[in-house]
Amino acid sequence: MQSNNPDRWWKNGIIYHIYPQSFCDTNSDGVGDLQGIISKLDYLTELGVDAIWLSPIYPSPLVDAGYDISDYYDIHPRYGTMADFDQLLDAAHRRKIRVIMDLVLNHTSHEHPWFRESAASRNNPKRDWYIWQPSRNGKQPNNWRTNYGKKAWQYDPLTEEYYYHSFFREQPDLNWHNPEVRDAMFQVMKYWLRKGVDGFRLDVINLLFKDKRGRNNPIFSLLTGGKVYNYNQPEVYDVLREFRSLLNQYPGRTSVGEIFTPPPGNSRQAAAFLGNGTDMLHMVFDFSLIFTMWRASSYYKAIRNSYRQLPPGGWPCFFFSNHDIGRYVARSRFTSRHKYEKARLHALLLLTLRGTPFIYYGDEIGMENAEIPREKIHDLYGQLFYPLYKGRDGARTPMQWSDVPHAGFSTSEPFLPVHPNHKHVNVESQQQSVDSVWSTFQTLIAIRREHAALQEGEIEFLNEGDNNVLSYARYTAAEQLIVLLNFGSSAKKINLQEGGKCTVLYTTHPEREVQIPDKIRLQSYEGVVLMVNPSQGTL
Ligand code: GLC
Repeated sequence: MQSNNPDRWWKNGIIYHIYPQSFCDTNSDGVGDLQGIISKLDYLTELGVDAIWLSPIYPSPLVDAGYDISDYYDIHPRYGTMADFDQLLDAAHRRKIRVIMDLVLNHTSHEHPWFRESAASRNNPKRDWYIWQPSRNGKQPNNWRTNYGKKAWQYDPLTEEYYYHSFFREQPDLNWHNPEVRDAMFQVMKYWLRKGVDGFRLDVINLLFKDKRGRNNPIFSLLTGGKVYNYNQPEVYDVLREFRSLLNQYPGRTSVGEIFTPPPGNSRQAAAFLGNGTDMLHMVFDFSLIFTMWRASSYYKAIRNSYRQLPPGGWPCFFFSNHDIGRYVARSRFTSRHKYEKARLHALLLLTLRGTPFIYYGDEIGMENAEIPREKIHDLYGQLFYPLYKGRDGARTPMQWSDVPHAGFSTSEPFLPVHPNHKHVNVESQQQSVDSVWSTFQTLIAIRREHAALQEGEIEFLNEGDNNVLSYARYTAAEQLIVLLNFGSSAKKINLQEGGKCTVLYTTHPEREVQIPDKIRLQSYEGVVLMVNPSQGTL
């Protein structure tokens, strides 16, 4: 049963990541909108999610799909109005679905009035809101680079100085050393909290501060693509403590930080942003699992490491796809005829681990990355680096609701093409079938809701380092569950001490007997959740 404490919903619940332009279009302009999300809230209830996280919906020139905000206090007209947003919040809350906003604190759009003022003259009161530097010996102020490896300083001919941008030049970085910037952003947070949003996903939060002295990054860090002086600066922790105190004034709010750092060490660096477990972020995305090979032992190591890095009381979360890294079904390890079996096994993993699961829209039906023809690419990275890198659009295609033209996403041509596989990979058809990816998600979400052991229960790994089978127990004082996942392409027999005492709660291969003997034979890519019968079991 789900915990009654509403303040802890974010530990027990499931968070669904919506990329708003691609979810559902109700005004037939080919772009998803807020009314579209409202129209799908019943769908989300049926799936069983507890919260939605919306990628940015603020006004923006959309150089980076809205991660370049030009007004933190409004809604981009292509998604609707503030009245639509209020309606969404209300309609979601009535269904007990929480709403998490994406918040970009590190940079604004170059069209934000703050930047326009800052760029107007060297003595403008907002000059110091951004990071301006004169040239050094006729060259860029230092050797800092953007996330895609280019020089990160843009020369401004009007004021004859450079400004710093971690991403595109249309996304100037704010100067968080300036207390006015801090105040302005805390006002933004308060505005949305007062409105009633349930939390924030903080974009690239570890980039917030840069070395005040602007020191050059050492050469080794340039070679590895890492940074030293322009990320993970200690001042960010103070801001996050202040942020947490603010959130604590509003019961039941949560936060999750995006901490992208190059491997190795991601888990450790990400966990640092949880502070002592209760004084900074509620959760952080740990990207280490994204680089995991399709092997039980690799998952075991990455997950165990992720847990080990947590501070006492720190809470983990897991995600396997997002709008930047692409869809897990599409990664090379899934490109086989077994991809849907693997997708179901992966769902079982996500939904039985200790930690909040994040589901990227469409993953619940096994959507795949699409090939986007060059002329239809929106993502600037794709436009700049094609064909070496085709950008992120492939994982941002319209949600596949049904097999009709445009996949039921819109009645007109969508801004990005729908994946041709929508004829068979779509919500409508998968809802009819008990062994679809959708049904796996829905059933496991329901099971997770019913079993406290799968929520805040402890986790104990049962066979460390096996290449094929990952197994763990989830337990509370009152119940014990065992999860077995066969990553291998052939059946595997495993000894299960508790076997005789278990019944099957869920299996990806429904032909299995309900009672389990002490030697259990797992089919290839089979995942099972077993319940140790209360009268008999101890672990
Ligand atoms: C984050 C976002 C990504 C965006 C970048 C710059 O990584 O997830 O989509 O491009 O920040 O804001």
